Amino acid sequence: MKHLASSIGSKNKFLILGCGFSGSYFAKTIRKFGCNVITSSRSETKDPNMIVFNSETNKVPHEKFFDGVTHILSCIPPDKNGKDPVLKCLKSKMQNSSVEWIGYLSTTGVYGDTKGNWVSEIDQPNPFQERSHKRLNCEKEWIKSGLPVQIFRLPGIYGPGRSTFEAIRNKKIRVISKKNQVFSRIHVADITHAIIYLLQNKDSLKFYQIINIADDVPCSQLEVIQYCFNLLGLKMPRPMLFEDAKNDLSPIAQSFWMENRRVSNKLLCETLGYKLIYKNYKKGLKDCFLNS
Ligand SMILES: NC(=O)c1ccc[n+]([C@@H]2O[C@H](COP(=O)([O-])OP(=O)(O)OC[C@H]3O[C@@H](n4cnc5c(N)ncnc54)[C@H](OP(=O)(O)O)[C@@H]3O)[C@@H](O)[C@H]2O)c1
Repeated sequence: MKHLASSIGSKNKFLILGCGFSGSYFAKTIRKFGCNVITSSRSETKDPNMIVFNSETNKVPHEKFFDGVTHILSCIPPDKNGKDPVLKCLKSKMQNSSVEWIGYLSTTGVYGDTKGNWVSEIDQPNPFQERSHKRLNCEKEWIKSGLPVQIFRLPGIYGPGRSTFEAIRNKKIRVISKKNQVFSRIHVADITHAIIYLLQNKDSLKFYQIINIADDVPCSQLEVIQYCFNLLGLKMPRPMLFEDAKNDLSPIAQSFWMENRRVSNKLLCETLGYKLIYKNYKKGLKDCFLNS
């Protein structure tokens, strides 16, 4: 990680809004570079570096927390009305602050179904699910805000503590096969390190407002599950055909199977030169296996 630290350091103050899975990984990593990091949660906490922010109850951090903030990362999804919680509650505070850069974690769901074809940032979004329409509207609101935002579109996020291994261990795994169906994914470490790489090299790299962060190898869920069972030394149950399994799936789980796309990372990895830590699910899941 030594190449990351020269221009990001103690002079920078990061505010991480929504410190869930990706946000807390980012916070933990950026602290190692000496940055001052404040995070938000919806629950009260004794941690002096954590503030309470909950758009649903209008619990909004005091302006003083924005003093000296140079970078903000928003990891908060749209609210139930489809509004962006951060813009809804904190837009003027951000506009009056000294923030230089805002990262917004979005989803590749905005591309909709490409019938298994590759999709990149230059393709028009074509959301299919209602939640993806809401997400695209939030992206548009961020761009319209005039704030210095950069949007990162993410496929399925996994990492130690949140991967197929947990589903197998908790007996929640559904082994389903659907012909020609693939999913794209990204290890949580690559979200953090890609963003840090872009910040670190911002003076030499062209700025792109929307960037996909995905690994090199979209593939079937079955391949991933089989690989995990192999690592655990267990026998995988016989797959069920999607058609036979779908009525037992929750609406949200069903909706994931309705879209089939391969998300391109060429902008990030070829044009901008980021080197993935976990290029494919095998490398990433081995890390999860060893660190969960
Ligand atoms: N998970 C995936 O596979 C995936 C894939 C693509 C994109 N994404 C998107 O990428 C972003 C990060 O994903 P993640 O999985 O790391 O998220 P996560 O673990 O679910 O964390 C979301 C965070 O948002 C906070 N939050 C939610 N609603 C809020 C509200 N109304 N007001 C204030 N805070 C609120 C939560 O607060 P608490 O800490 O209090 O719970 C939590 O810290 C999210 O926008 C997610 O939708 C996720």
